[in-house]
Amino acid sequence: MPRHLPGPSTLAFGVATAAYQIEGATQEDGRGPSIWDTFAARPGTVRDGKDGSVACDSYHRFDEDLDLVSGLGVDWYRFSIAWPRVLPEGAGQVEPRGLDYYDRLVDASLARGLSPMATLYHWDLPQALEDRDGWLNRDTAEAFADYAMVVHERLGDRVQVWSTHNEPWCAAYLGYAAGVHAPGRKEGGAGHRAAHHLLLGHGLAAGRLHEAGVEDLGIVLNLAPFWPETPEAEEVTDGIDAIRNRVWLGPLVDGAYDDGLLAVAPELADPQLVRDGDLEMIRGSADWLGINYYTPFHTTLADPSVARHPELDAYPGAGAVSFVVREPRTDIGWEVDANGLEELLVDTHRRTGLPLLVTENGAAYPDDRTVDGTVDDQDRIGYLRDHIAATDRARAAGADVRAYVVWTLLDNFEWAEGYTKTFGVVHVDAEDQTRTPKASYRWLVDHLAAR
Ligand code: FCB
Repeated sequence: MPRHLPGPSTLAFGVATAAYQIEGATQEDGRGPSIWDTFAARPGTVRDGKDGSVACDSYHRFDEDLDLVSGLGVDWYRFSIAWPRVLPEGAGQVEPRGLDYYDRLVDASLARGLSPMATLYHWDLPQALEDRDGWLNRDTAEAFADYAMVVHERLGDRVQVWSTHNEPWCAAYLGYAAGVHAPGRKEGGAGHRAAHHLLLGHGLAAGRLHEAGVEDLGIVLNLAPFWPETPEAEEVTDGIDAIRNRVWLGPLVDGAYDDGLLAVAPELADPQLVRDGDLEMIRGSADWLGINYYTPFHTTLADPSVARHPELDAYPGAGAVSFVVREPRTDIGWEVDANGLEELLVDTHRRTGLPLLVTENGAAYPDDRTVDGTVDDQDRIGYLRDHIAATDRARAAGADVRAYVVWTLLDNFEWAEGYTKTFGVVHVDAEDQTRTPKASYRWLVDHLAAR
């Protein structure tokens, strides 16, 4: 069974989920509150006013869900571990019932021939740590490494492929700069401080996990291609690219924040924040990189007479850029262009030399049910087909891409969009939790069998 990182010879397949989006049972078995419980409880934060307290109830239905994963014919199940289930206060007292749950989940995956790929942090910071300033506090990075070791000690005999963070860009900049994700803080340059501490947490955890024998340790980034529409847009686009992409790749590959980044993010030149040795420790700490890709971004120079694009709040300090979103778009408004994925994979491989995994790719569509209750999601099939083909092209062009992981198994709690945007290849009835595979699920089964 391919429990280690898939090799380069063929493209492996998997499907992904995340704890807060599917588990529910947020008050069960001693789980402590996370920043997402707190954030979602605040009026006006989540589009439909809902939260993850029930979600897909996967905490109780994981056997059924793993049957669906194995029915797809994929080798990999990418899931995340909820820090507040394991350490309800973020640090200190371990909750054995939380670890027991992931123990059962891993065993149940292996029993079905599925290889687990575990993400340690998919945004559900224990609220107790946010009460002490969350990712703006250096201690949170240390607490993260301690938590990583607690989980590894329990699961490390069966889980070989680990990732520290999922999309730290979102955790830092949507959480602490734009305030549209938990913890909902709109503090501009604080986003850069959070980013450094997330990287530090990754580096500390990576060091200790490697020491404990882990060989396949990665980090999952939502890197993005930016395509300036005009020569004038190029300079301002550089600032956006720095905050989205280079803030991670610089430390991971070169052990440095580059000058272009420091020009827009002077916070990262603060020696109180970036201490001696931090960047050296982060350099070379990842054995592989996960890339989550959904859409490319066309950029133009912003017209000063037009209101600032709200998405720019997530790029504190970056210049006056505007985004142009072309058709076709998915239900969440993201432009569809598979060439962005191909380009990103080729460029990132060239830049890092690391094995790459497409750790998320997928699409939200309205998914209207037909009279017989099925979902004929031809648009999603087209999206997946085109993006798998783009991944194949990137491999043919020399990019060392090892796996393609579909986002996502189940329609679930889509963060600030609540349950209004559905990405699943399996429909979930919100009333009675019935799971119904969509046409895209059947298509994937056939596609994988044909490969
Ligand atoms: C990514 C997240 C994932 C999901 C998809 C649609 O940013 O990692 O949890 O919400 O977007």
